[in-house]
Amino acid sequence: MSEIQPIDRGVAAEPDHGVKHLAIIMDGNHRWAKARHMPRAAGHRAGAKNVAAVAEACADAGITTLTLFAFSTENWERPSREVNLLMDLMRNMLKNDVDELNDRGVKLSVIGDRSRFASDLQMDMNRAEALTRENDALRLNIAANFGGRWDIVQAAKKVALEVATGRLDEATLARMDEADFAKYLSLGTLDEPDLCIRTGGDQRISNFLLWDFAYTEFYFTDTYWPDFNQDTLAEALSTFSERQRRFGRRG
Ligand code: IPE
Ligand code: IPE
Ligand code: MG
Repeated sequence: MSEIQPIDRGVAAEPDHGVKHLAIIMDGNHRWAKARHMPRAAGHRAGAKNVAAVAEACADAGITTLTLFAFSTENWERPSREVNLLMDLMRNMLKNDVDELNDRGVKLSVIGDRSRFASDLQMDMNRAEALTRENDALRLNIAANFGGRWDIVQAAKKVALEVATGRLDEATLARMDEADFAKYLSLGTLDEPDLCIRTGGDQRISNFLLWDFAYTEFYFTDTYWPDFNQDTLAEALSTFSERQRRFGRRG
């Protein structure tokens, strides 16, 4: 008779640091390049190259959801040459990195208003999502043409449309609470981020996940995004485990 073996949960076990959902504002590409007397484009290239590497480091660290801020609704206001480069880098990422991410069990989703992207880029997004749909090692949300204000407005519009078309009756609308409303937001039923890291030294949200950050912890580092790696990630995660989260209750 064989003994019942304990289940080996591997990296899926609750990690010691306690971060399940991590959000990152990937900032500082230009200053990284400037410090090296390199052109701005080189900073964006180095930054884009770092996305898959950090996603894999997060999976290794036991994080289950990673939400990355790649392009904000305000970033369209940059010079068109720079915007075009950022679009090309997104294309490359969706084409070249997706197989490796798929092999690692990453489920990729793009959050944000996609309608402004070129149709081939929208197709690449759909393809990457379809290919990785069944994966469950890490959920990777790429926020592109995303803004926290946009997200709340689009959620409100969805609710209004459901009421207007009779799919949501007035009594249900009257009972709608915060959790019900949150289902219409881009992150839907996913748990809110436990920790948000912003690289590049600035200490602001820049219109990222406004609703979802209600009780998220923040970690600001001077490290520029292209230099962010496994070690800087480990540092951020270890400070999180020392935080006392109170959620408004008595400590
Ligand atoms: C972050 O790097 C990339 C995006 C916002 C798309 P930046 O280009 O903002 O670099 P810094 O912050 O000016 O150094
Ligand atoms: C925030 O960085 C947006 C992304 C990282 C995609 P920005 O460089 O656009 O933010 P600000 O302008 O310094 O606030
Ligand atoms: Mg910046």
